[in-house]
Amino acid sequence: MSTSPVVQHDPPPIVACTISRDVQIFDLLIEDMESALGDSWGDLSFEDAAAFLAQPEARALQFVTIAMDSQDEDNLDRVSEIIAAAKAARIKVILIAEDLSPGALHKLLREGGDEFVPYPLPENELARAIERVLTIDDSVQSSGGNAKFKATGDKSGVVIPVHGLAGGTGATMLAVNLAWELANIDPKDPPKVCLIDLDFQFGTASTYLDLPRRESVLEMLTDTAAMDAESFMQALLTYGDKLHVLTSPTDMIPLDMISPADITRVIEMARVNFDYVVIDMPSTMVEWSQTVLEAAHVYFAMIELEMRSAQNTLRLKRALQSEDLPFEKIRFILNRAPGFTDLNGKSRVKRLAESLGISIEVLMPDGGKVVMQSADHGTPLAEGNAKNPLRKEIMKLAKSVHEVNMAAAADAKA
Ligand SMILES: Nc1ncnc2c1ncn2[C@@H]1O[C@H](COP(=O)(O)OP(=O)(O)OP(=O)(O)O)[C@@H](O)[C@H]1O
Ligand SMILES: [Mg+2]
Repeated sequence: MSTSPVVQHDPPPIVACTISRDVQIFDLLIEDMESALGDSWGDLSFEDAAAFLAQPEARALQFVTIAMDSQDEDNLDRVSEIIAAAKAARIKVILIAEDLSPGALHKLLREGGDEFVPYPLPENELARAIERVLTIDDSVQSSGGNAKFKATGDKSGVVIPVHGLAGGTGATMLAVNLAWELANIDPKDPPKVCLIDLDFQFGTASTYLDLPRRESVLEMLTDTAAMDAESFMQALLTYGDKLHVLTSPTDMIPLDMISPADITRVIEMARVNFDYVVIDMPSTMVEWSQTVLEAAHVYFAMIELEMRSAQNTLRLKRALQSEDLPFEKIRFILNRAPGFTDLNGKSRVKRLAESLGISIEVLMPDGGKVVMQSADHGTPLAEGNAKNPLRKEIMKLAKSVHEVNMAAAADAKA
């Protein structure tokens, strides 16, 4: 374990502050602050912090660590004020949280928290977070309370996650083919499309497109604070010269190894450099699922006409509604849907939608064995199976997404 200070100053002015209800509750934080900074840090209460940060003396601070536990959940507004005051003074914010709900944490990260470290502090984690916030480069500078990139790219892409509500419902199939259709939608003025595989454990977008997996993906994901447009583009592979793909990492990694702040940065980086950002989501709900939902313009949920999908839909609906999350962004897509001549099947679809209280807006037919075969070949359906009924539906979906987007862009200009 390294105990050498990561920040050194002579004579030691106060460069950082802890902010909490009572710092004695977080004794490990005291220890780690001491080993990182020696004596050059101070402590503030929630009551005093915002006022102090607004004073000119506070400008000498490089960062603050705000420590919270579940008891502070009622006090989030005050914490938000402190974050806003820190941001206004260009002071970095590290959030330390024990048993804080993901919703609360996410809110604080969106409001400008630069890093999050769980409490009890894992060994060396605070030192690493400090190093990261102090080396964040200007392209990832926060502004106006929201972590935002300086627009290195000139785009404002549409973010479209695809999430299978049960395993094997065809989420990856749709994400890959939708991304490819979008990349080919207008040969005269082809939109730039990026496909991001966030299924870090079992992601197969690379398999569907026969792309290798790269070590640089993990490097980029685990240090998103240092990511710039160049390192992001370098982690991408291209398929058919048209589609950019961020594959999942070579090795399986824990889904929660990547933080909501990391995901926010990756999506934002993709958004400013591409017209469409299609995201293949893991079916498990994780800490950053909400991050993706909030960044999404439209969120496709794949279901099938079966019990698992029905039950998971209800669960998801309840979870989102209880947290006041935007359930209305979700568009349900029924995969392997009965054909229109199958009257019995059609009435089952109708009953499913009614009993779940959702509308099922898109029906994808079963495309037969060639769907799997074309995936095994590593090619999108459009290549070689252009007439497949499933491919035709996906193309229709891509067209409608593109039309809606072009219309919105035209409105924005007018
Ligand atoms: N409409 C369809 N017609 C025929 N085959 C399909 C269809 N949709 C998906 N498949 C096939 O079903 C299999 C599972 O699909 P896919 O990998 O997209 O599921 P997933 O939701 O991403 O699963 P996972 O939970 O493993 O991520 C694949 O072999 C795919 O080619
Ligand atoms: Mg998948």
